[in-house]
Amino acid sequence: MGGGIAQVAAAAGDEVLLHDVNQQFIDRGLRTIEKNLARSVEKGRLTEEQRGNIIARIDARPKWEDFDVEFAVEAASENVEVKLDLFRRMDTDTPPTAILASNTSSISITRIGAVTSRPAQVIGMHFFNPVPVMKLVELIRGLATSQPTFDAAHALAIRYGKVPVAANDFPGFISNRILCPMLNEAVFALYEGVGTVESIDAVMKLGMNHPMGPFELADFVGLDTLLAIMEVLYEGYGDSKYRACPLLRNYVAAGWVGRKAGRGFYDWSSGTMQPASPPNGAVHAAGAAR
Ligand code: CAA
Repeated sequence: MGGGIAQVAAAAGDEVLLHDVNQQFIDRGLRTIEKNLARSVEKGRLTEEQRGNIIARIDARPKWEDFDVEFAVEAASENVEVKLDLFRRMDTDTPPTAILASNTSSISITRIGAVTSRPAQVIGMHFFNPVPVMKLVELIRGLATSQPTFDAAHALAIRYGKVPVAANDFPGFISNRILCPMLNEAVFALYEGVGTVESIDAVMKLGMNHPMGPFELADFVGLDTLLAIMEVLYEGYGDSKYRACPLLRNYVAAGWVGRKAGRGFYDWSSGTMQPASPPNGAVHAAGAAR
């Protein structure tokens, strides 16, 4: 997601410093950006010169340093300790006037802001995957987020060609409070043998006009991320309706976390989505769809 955010920022004319702890992730992000921009040139939406200028505005920084930025967007994994640590360091190592945004999918912005010396300048700026395509940016004010911070993030989202929608700071905000229980419910339906991966996806695509069925989408989002968000909802609301399906836990334990791992509910090892062989211990209803 960091790469996608860097792409839309650079395409809007901003100078971007792209940091990751791992050079491999930076390289992967840059390759994806190059591929996306090359496609836009092919389709006549960008000139060669514009493509080159966008790439030139992205400066990859593999080492942590003093980042001289006006606006920082954190897009690390959905782990509260990782995010709190990053925000402590961003607080020390960016100018005191900088706004610090988190692309968290579910974690409390109030809690993140509280570990900094500038909670009024901390905001949730939640992009959606694939970032260059998806229009929504959910903007989440923590309890202490100031109106000027909100206005700056709102203006930035619009400049990036997005549609900002405000949400209050409760677990999962609006998007994942609704999306993730639906995806988790699909896993329960599979677990209980109501349908197969393919039949459940077909029902939601053909019956509800979703562009991806819940299993394709869960693989796309990452089952580790889905599980992490369910844990935040369960812990945050203390309500059993948010409990993660045991089958989802097993997939994550197996390392079958979706497209990025080559295996999730589908087999992605060939680079395209293929049916996966049913694992041991799951009901995976025999032919319910036929
Ligand atoms: N990166 C950049 N561009 C991409 C892309 C990617 N990964 N995948 C597709 N695109 C572009 C294509 O280039 C194409 O652009 P053009 O029309 O300009 O050529 C366009 O998107 C449509 O692509 P396709 O025709 O190949 O495929 P599609 O019509 O099936 O659309 C999709 C692909 C947009 C991803 C669509 O399947 C979709 O909307 N899926 C649902 C995505 C979704 O729900 N995302 C939110 C996930 S939740 C989240 O991100 C947040 C969270 O907190 C969990």
